This record gives sequence, structure tokens and C-alpha cells, in this order.
Amino acid sequence: MSQNKNDPKPLPMKAITLTITGVFALVAFGFLILPAFFDSSPVGLLFHKGPAPWALDPEMQAKFQLTETQAKGRYHFLQYCAGCHGPDGRGNGPTSQTLNRRPANFLEPSPSGLKNGLSVQGVVKTLNEGLAGSQMPSFSNLPDDVKQEIAEFVDHLHTHPALY
Ligand code: HEC
Repeated sequence: MSQNKNDPKPLPMKAITLTITGVFALVAFGFLILPAFFDSSPVGLLFHKGPAPWALDPEMQAKFQLTETQAKGRYHFLQYCAGCHGPDGRGNGPTSQTLNRRPANFLEPSPSGLKNGLSVQGVVKTLNEGLAGSQMPSFSNLPDDVKQEIAEFVDHLHTHPALY
């Protein structure tokens, strides 16, 4: 069977296969391999060899004795809350200067004027709802476990003020 001049040209299967493989490899590289170099991506964490990003260094861990949940909470607190509340919850973060009401000092035994309070449940409620009429935003978009971790860290701050 020889090719007739009028037959349609056969598809260049080899080139097509190569192109598809190439595109797939590029996408795989983009989505899987590149993020692996960043600890903040789930793929990156899979390959992460050093201490977890939220882990305290051994000296600090010996002092603060945070549970894993609290240590994760601290990591997120520094990320989301410290700007206003300060790294130790003293209410003195850099942004606190611009707020019309300075956030309470969480290290005080019973800071006055709190609506939901500093119990784990109270903080989770505040994170879910924000505080109407104040500049305390709602964090309801955060996953529940992250809110729980943050609340447990705030509880630790509040119940161990001498450490901070
Ligand atoms: C933009 C600044 C800002 C950020 C960011 C912020 N807060 Fe607040 N927060 C406030 C202010 C202001 C108040 C005090 C409101 C008041 O007393 O009227 C407050 C109040 C609170 C209270 C007391 C609630 C009560 O019972 O009255 C808690 C707890 C709290 N914040 C936790 C957090 C946590 C945890 C985060 C991070 C996830 C966070 N905040 C992020 C500004 C902020």
C-alpha cells in the first residue's frame, strides 16, 4: 500500500505526543516542583527538612513550653494579629497607633471593656464575628483549626503573662 497523492496527510503523531508531553511537564514543573522550594506551600512542606516554620527555637521552647497547637497559633498570631496587637498581645503593634481605640493588653489579668473575653471560646467567637463598631476585623475566612490555634496561643499569653 503506497501513499496516493490525494490521500489526506497522516497526522504527525510523534510531534503531537511530544508537544502534549512537553506541556504536561511544564505544568507539572510549575505547580508541583517550583512551590516545593517554598515552605509556605503544602508541597513545599512535604519536602521540608528543617524545623517546621512554626516551631520555636529550642531555647524559646524551653522557656515557653508551647504545645504544637499553641506554637502554630503563635506563628499565625505574628502573621495576622501582631500588627495591631503587638507580638506579645500588649496592644502595642505598629498599626495600633492609627486605631481609634488601642487594643487591650492581653497580658493583664482582666483587661477592661472586652466583649467576648480571652478564653479560647471567646477568642474564636471574636475571630468569627469581628467586633462591630471597632477596627477589629472578622477572620471568619480562616480555617477553623487556624482560629483554634490562634485562640489557644492568646489563651497561653493571657494565662502566662510572666513569661512574656
Ligand atoms: C487592624 C487591627 C487589628 C487586627 C489586625 C487584629 N485586631 Fe484584634 N482588635 C483590634 C482592636 C482595635 C480591638 C479592640 C476593639 C475595642 O475594644 O473596641 C481588638 C480586639 C480584640 C480582642 C478582644 C475582643 C473582646 O472580647 O472584646 C481579641 C481577642 C482580638 N482582638 C484578637 C485578635 C486576633 C487573634 C487577631 C489576629 C487573628 C486580631 N485580633 C487582629 C484590632 C485588630
